[in-house]
Amino acid sequence: MPTVEATTRPLADSDAPLLAVGAFAPASGERTDPPELATDASAVAEAAGFDLGAELVAAGFDGSVGATLRVPTRGSLPAATLLVVGLGPREDAGTDTLRRAGAAAALGAERVDRLGVGLSDVLDDVDPADAVQAIAEGVLLGSYRFESYRSDAPPFELEAATIHVVDAAQDAAQQAVEVARATAGAGTLARDLINTPPQDKRPPALADRVAAEMADLPIEVRVLDEAALEEGGYGGILGVGQGSSEPPRLVELTYAPEGAERHVALVGKGITFDTGGISLKPSTAMETMKTDMGGAATVTAVIKGAAQLGLPVKITAILALAENMPSGTATRVSDVLTMKDGTTVEVINTDAEGRLVLGDALVHASELEPDAIVDVATLTGAAVVALGDRISVLIADDDELADALLAAGTTTGEPTWRLPLAADEYGDRLEGAIADLKNTGGREAGTIFAALFLHRFVGDDIPWAHLDIAGTAWTTSERGYLSKGATGVSVRTLLQWLRTS
Ligand code: BES
Ligand code: MN
Ligand code: ZN
Repeated sequence: MPTVEATTRPLADSDAPLLAVGAFAPASGERTDPPELATDASAVAEAAGFDLGAELVAAGFDGSVGATLRVPTRGSLPAATLLVVGLGPREDAGTDTLRRAGAAAALGAERVDRLGVGLSDVLDDVDPADAVQAIAEGVLLGSYRFESYRSDAPPFELEAATIHVVDAAQDAAQQAVEVARATAGAGTLARDLINTPPQDKRPPALADRVAAEMADLPIEVRVLDEAALEEGGYGGILGVGQGSSEPPRLVELTYAPEGAERHVALVGKGITFDTGGISLKPSTAMETMKTDMGGAATVTAVIKGAAQLGLPVKITAILALAENMPSGTATRVSDVLTMKDGTTVEVINTDAEGRLVLGDALVHASELEPDAIVDVATLTGAAVVALGDRISVLIADDDELADALLAAGTTTGEPTWRLPLAADEYGDRLEGAIADLKNTGGREAGTIFAALFLHRFVGDDIPWAHLDIAGTAWTTSERGYLSKGATGVSVRTLLQWLRTS
């Protein structure tokens, strides 16, 4: 991955061999107009003494977001090539446009070691520091590759990108790059953990890996092994994990900076592989089930990023790690589990395991009496059906918390849509036949049913929000700064929320 820095020198002074500049698409409805050059693009073209606008028209460049065109400078500038990056119509452009443009610049930087980026002075209503942050995140996330399991991975040639921003103070620009480094670093850590094959992240190994990631940071790590889980009455986590030859774990990470005025608990579903258990999944449904620890990966990455940024918020991250396997020791259909708070649950479907491990983890979180709890989970196939792979589900019992998370999702380009908790309408579906609760309630409103189940384990009066990222944690198509595979979704949303609320 390249290093990124910011400078207040104009782009035309750059000595990089490739310069990325922006061009807007014509306003929608006026598709016959030529693209409009952004400020740096005009300045660089003027310095070089050639008509860049005419080159774009000749090439039929439409300026759509992330489209790129390489234009040789033929000796008129120190840089051999201009990389024109489309920004879409000016009226639609925002921070996420710049993130996507940053990724397009990094991906378009073939066979060069250094890249100068002049995309940051193009948007009227985006703060220059926010623009630098978004571009830097785009460059870093767009350069992400997961190649540790390839024997012949080609090296990534781009070593350094410098973002030129003339209308920001140098220290504000530098600060923005640092936020971007921590944020993109967290996003790519989550992607790495999720992309890792399930044989290399079984619960004890994943707990060790997470602990190792916290080294050198002011984060305390506590791991509950199977004996400690037994002792503490974590019947949900133990019940889900008992079919596997590797035992479950609960990992508690604590970041408690001096002077913190609030305490947020983040809870992550960490099923390292979800076969469905005795209620075995069909083969195709199992193909992406190494992602089922995406919530745990998210909260790991968020607490690490928050500590790197020195955010003034106490954070406890709780990871419920288990492998959901079918075997002679696995939980049977209609077994009854006793959860950490004493609630009994009849297991109607062993594939509805996420809510069982999360119930225990939410009780654990509630006992710490935080000011808010947010859980993150690849919880339901119904969330994929409802909103697909680009929009995450939010369900919350607190409007203020919900609104803050939705706003953070918008800023970070991680669209999130709220569904109702609907306790009045559907709460009675939880009642079990022989136990306090059952773990499934039929096919209808499956995402809401799962959230209602989780809500039973959240302490009274603790504001709670739940992110169902079953659809969004993984993508089969490349888009901007998202490569195929794990997306790291919700990491940047949560960091943005913790940084700004
Ligand atoms: N891990 C799955 C949910 C999932 C589905 C994640 C697709 C990512 C992509 C979860 O454990 C599950 O199997 N849920 C079941 C619950 C059902 C049995 C009530 C589902 O949604 O089908
Ligand atoms: Mn499942
Ligand atoms: Zn699952």
